[in-house]
Amino acid sequence: MKILVTGGLGFIGSHTVVELQNKGFEVVIVDNLSNASEKVIDGIIAITGKKPLFENFDLRDKPKVEDFFSRHNDIEGVIHFAASKAVGESVEKPLLYYENNLGVLTYILQELSKKGSANFIFSSSCTVYGQADKMPITEDAPVKSAESPYGNTKQVGEEIIQDTCKVTPHISAIALRYFNPFGAHPSVEIGELPSGVPQNLVPFITQTGIGLREQLSVFGDDYPTADGTCIRDYIHVVDLAKAHVAALQRLVNDENEENYEVFNLGTGTGSSVLEVIKSFERVSGKKLNYKIVRRRAGDVIEAYADTTKANAVLGWRAESTLDEAMKSAWDWEQKIRS
Ligand code: UD1
Repeated sequence: MKILVTGGLGFIGSHTVVELQNKGFEVVIVDNLSNASEKVIDGIIAITGKKPLFENFDLRDKPKVEDFFSRHNDIEGVIHFAASKAVGESVEKPLLYYENNLGVLTYILQELSKKGSANFIFSSSCTVYGQADKMPITEDAPVKSAESPYGNTKQVGEEIIQDTCKVTPHISAIALRYFNPFGAHPSVEIGELPSGVPQNLVPFITQTGIGLREQLSVFGDDYPTADGTCIRDYIHVVDLAKAHVAALQRLVNDENEENYEVFNLGTGTGSSVLEVIKSFERVSGKKLNYKIVRRRAGDVIEAYADTTKANAVLGWRAESTLDEAMKSAWDWEQKIRS
């Protein structure tokens, strides 16, 4: 069965391609290499022994999208990762984010509308919940007003899919709301390749550990949490990738009850910034150079997932511990800097 993975050379995309190929799916990757390298394909081959098809083009080019789907009319599912994801940049360049994250989404859904049946999986984010009123966060927690254009693209993206599914019963879609993915494949053949200064916590920690950054700034220790630092749900990227395969299998086997469903993907456990630092120190045997600085604008105090729905309905749960995932992130950082 042929599956299109947009953004399949990116961080979460590449790990998902590996899990798809391991389960026997035939993968076609479309990626414009804006935030990824073609060398990732070598890593995928090293792990799976199979070379995915790859086409390098920009999905904002609508005629190319149309041409792609007419050439690959046997595609039975799409996992759509291709999107921009830097919160700060989205504030500076909102139209770029709306074009990349929403314009492209409408092009793909238009193509799927033309088909007899189609399965679609969307990368959403726990950012849609903002600061949720209750922990852990269930899927029916209200969606709060977005703090950034990036966050808004995830909310509006979900609405675009939901509206499309209402009038197009032959499209089945699942939106996956990721908590905080990190880590690398245990083979260390693929992992995260942040461009420039990492904005996310774990890549900043491992780059500080390896000596690429001098010091980690911990954004605030005066939050109303046990140690004063923010709490998030850090999930190993391999666990997250496996959830995509479970979601796809639900759709291709017609097990879905509604043609639009939403799932939280997290571990169900919250960890503070200081706990994440301690995990790094345990795993690496190094002391991390960090200092406490002012809070970062837009950070929520805590966000961790209630994963009951994904556990029960997808038959999936995150298996790696924080330390196991951290070890993979550290092994990867050491490998790419050696
Ligand atoms: C951020 C985005 C979220 C997006 C996700 C994508 C914000 C407010 N949220 O999530 O919308 O879906 O990235 O990966 O930007 N931290 C430090 N020092 C650092 C970096 C982070 O203390 O140098 C802290 C943050 O304050 C936060 C935690 O580490 O408490 C995690 O931060 P980060 O990795 O940026 O993820 P989120 O903010 O949860």
